[in-house]
Amino acid sequence: MNTLIAANWKMHGDLSWVTKPSEFRECYPLNGQKVEILLCPPAYLISAMNVACNNQLISLGAQNCHFEMQGAFTGEMSAQMMRDGGASYVIVGHSERRALFGETDKIVAQKADAVSMAGLTPIICVGEDRSQRESGEADEVVGAQLQSSIPLSADGENLVIAYEPVWAIGTGLVPTLEDIAAMHDHIRGILSNRFGVKMAEKIRILYGGSVKPSNAKEILALGDVNGALIGGASLEMDSLAAIAKCVGS
Ligand code: 13P
Repeated sequence: MNTLIAANWKMHGDLSWVTKPSEFRECYPLNGQKVEILLCPPAYLISAMNVACNNQLISLGAQNCHFEMQGAFTGEMSAQMMRDGGASYVIVGHSERRALFGETDKIVAQKADAVSMAGLTPIICVGEDRSQRESGEADEVVGAQLQSSIPLSADGENLVIAYEPVWAIGTGLVPTLEDIAAMHDHIRGILSNRFGVKMAEKIRILYGGSVKPSNAKEILALGDVNGALIGGASLEMDSLAAIAKCVGS
């Protein structure tokens, strides 16, 4: 599997950012082999970036969607609409959406299901908060989130999991390499139980939380880390490219 380097721009950017894919290509010559680059801009930019990205070997994704296909849901957008705009991935269950917008595991599962039904790949985010880490509950919390956030209909195809410890997001704090490796191993085990070992090996498990050019190499070298989901350090293309260059280096 190729490594997925995914940029979550959150609520940052403006129309001038449609040139970011070409800017990225200037910093990083993509060959489409080892690394897949995914940019997840604010939804209104996806379509314009899709035009700008044409043949640039860069994938586009959304940061959220509604779980219904259409209807009277003022202010919402469906997975089909994201696909229409040119997205091939949708991040679901990011901790900011869980904490600030009340998304439960059940809602996350409904959204992930809608994303798959639309023919896109969900990136399902899980991760413990600081007190859960400190009280030794991280494995249990992440296990429970995975069980309930992965839709019952999932068969493991076209699925990405992102492990993002809440306390590491935007803080500059990162778990030890041992802790990251142990959690990814734990997640792989849960996926194996659910989908079988062979299928579980094909599911990419990303690490997210204060990934930077300075720490990406050692994190991405860990066996069960198949990519990264990057916030702050993905806003500048030279920084994102520096992270991508760490893959297999
Ligand atoms: P930071 O890389 O800014 O810590 O954000 C991580 C994140 O939330 C990606 O989804």
